Amino acid sequence: MKNITILGATGSIGLSTLNVISRHLNEYRVFAVSAHSDWKGLLNICKNHRPSFAVLMDEAAAEKLKQAVPSETEVLCGKDSLNAIASHKNTDFVMAAIVGSAGISSTFSAAKAGKRIMLANKESLVLGGTLLINLAKKSGAEIIPVDSEHSAIFQCLKGGSDGLNKIQLTASGGPFLDVPFDELHSVTPSQACDHPNWKMGKKISVDSATMMNKGLEVIEASFLFGLASSEIEVIVHPQSIVHSFVYFNDGSVLSQLGLPDMRSAISYALSYPRRQSSGVKELDLTKESSLDFRSPDMKKYKCLELAYDAIAIGKSAPCTLNAANEVAVEAFLQNKVRFLDIAKIIEKTLKEAPTQHLDTLESVMENDQLSRKIAQSFIGSSD
Ligand SMILES: NC(=O)c1ccc[n+]([C@@H]2O[C@H](COP(=O)([O-])OP(=O)(O)OC[C@H]3O[C@@H](n4cnc5c(N)ncnc54)[C@H](OP(=O)(O)O)[C@@H]3O)[C@@H](O)[C@H]2O)c1
Repeated sequence: MKNITILGATGSIGLSTLNVISRHLNEYRVFAVSAHSDWKGLLNICKNHRPSFAVLMDEAAAEKLKQAVPSETEVLCGKDSLNAIASHKNTDFVMAAIVGSAGISSTFSAAKAGKRIMLANKESLVLGGTLLINLAKKSGAEIIPVDSEHSAIFQCLKGGSDGLNKIQLTASGGPFLDVPFDELHSVTPSQACDHPNWKMGKKISVDSATMMNKGLEVIEASFLFGLASSEIEVIVHPQSIVHSFVYFNDGSVLSQLGLPDMRSAISYALSYPRRQSSGVKELDLTKESSLDFRSPDMKKYKCLELAYDAIAIGKSAPCTLNAANEVAVEAFLQNKVRFLDIAKIIEKTLKEAPTQHLDTLESVMENDQLSRKIAQSFIGSSD
């Protein structure tokens, strides 16, 4: 029996993880769960799964949960408690599914404690990739990717990476794939969040529409698989059936396919190196009308280009890119800036922020805060 701690349990990945666990209750126990402020969502989870701990970031929400939760669950509040459940001696596996840079500290706690980290929070690698990989090597922590593309590559590389030429991350192109660039200035947050294939949280849905999500994934892949950005390509595949490609020097190309449902990657991260049922329907290629592939339009998807620029600049630039993107996406969701302003704010922040070595988690967080301030100064002046 493995004890699972789910950070970000009320979110899209958190709920899918609970769905997979519910199918294998003889193998996994939900040991601890967390959310930001959705105490009702967390209460529901506590009633169904009876975890030992439930952590909320918001104090008022934690008080409400305390009053309502079954007695076997201890309710805690704040960042230290989040780190404590991630590194708890009884935690075996940690699902890192908090959205954004808020997830990095708990991922690092899990890594320090040598846990299996099922990594959905790509920001942990984007902000502190080298630090996290080194920490995991030292402690013996396993990092199993949950992003579907990285899970695909991880699965394709199970036979080894000898002769690897390059990898190709597939990208759906998001809801605006066929919308001309000139029409993008007027798109709304609800249109941006209406993804054709995947049901995801709002932030990652907007990232998918700008293709910053793919940019962050290129950075994530460079750390996970130890590749240069020149060895990582992006290819648009609107159907999201092929989850990425690995090219080898003998002309072979390996790939992993499946319906667009995150439970496949989540299930694999839980059961690795075995496989288990996940609830995902079997793919029937005769029922798929076609599988299309094309190169991304870098003018339209400026955020993807900026992510490659950030890798080329190196040092703190990926962290700065991510912070500016989080600020810009939040402003877009609140109707404070327009869709095309997101890339402009990130570009200006990358130019203005200092490029510095980040060799501790503290320096990463300081750079994150500084970049947020710089990005914030461009909100409302993004023309
Ligand atoms: N969704 C997908 O299909 C998908 C696929 C691949 C990778 N990912 C990655 O997985 C992560 C989670 O994505 P998601 O779509 O599941 O997000 P989501 O649906 O927005 O859920 C986010 C979760 O994080 C919690 N949270 C938000 N802000 C927090 C903070 N400041 N401190 C602590 N907890 C906080 C939320 O709690 P509340 O509910 O209380 O707000 C919620 O439980 C992201 O890094 C994303 O890039 C997602």
